[in-house]
Amino acid sequence: MVKLTGLKKIKTAVFISGTGSNLKNLIKFSKIKNSPISIDLIFSNTSKAKGLRFSNQFNIKKYVSNFKSAKIAETKILNLLNKENIKFICLAGFMRILSKSFINEFNGKIVNIHPSLLPKYKGLNTHIKAIQNKDKVAGCTIHFVTAKLDSGKIILQKKIKILKKDTPTSLAKKVLRQEHKLYPLAIKKIFN
Ligand code: GRF
Repeated sequence: MVKLTGLKKIKTAVFISGTGSNLKNLIKFSKIKNSPISIDLIFSNTSKAKGLRFSNQFNIKKYVSNFKSAKIAETKILNLLNKENIKFICLAGFMRILSKSFINEFNGKIVNIHPSLLPKYKGLNTHIKAIQNKDKVAGCTIHFVTAKLDSGKIILQKKIKILKKDTPTSLAKKVLRQEHKLYPLAIKKIFN
């Protein structure tokens, strides 16, 4: 993994598909003096992603390309990432699966946040599954991205108690609050 040298922050892109609360949180983190990263590009596979508004708000370049042809989209993104000298990618609610060849281009430099205690509940609907299975704990995971969905090396995890009164919605909110704490910690752990 790239080590932080001197005062230069590592140019980072955040990939989103939706609200972008993790994106906003990462942008705020990136502005702290001892953050190892700067956020220099926001990518979304849909122009409907609410999180794209943070591009204007924080003056960060954005790029949208749908994944109707994943191959074409990925080629365009790779060109842009190279042009912008992006060295690190954070997936934050990004709802498309990246190809093996794309991941290989950024081997060990793409991380993802997943709202479960991996390896439990890969994929979608993690909170519904946890409640249906009457789990006592839920949580979130930051992991390196490999070609196998939600399976790369785990960087950090945070556990959260599931209460009897919790619904998938209330649990999602609680987990999201922890996600916002965990993502910066994981990035510090990678680079420091
Ligand atoms: C988060 O719960 C993340 O773990 C999941 O999608 C949600 C995205 O939330 N993959 P936001 O767009 O960052 O608000």
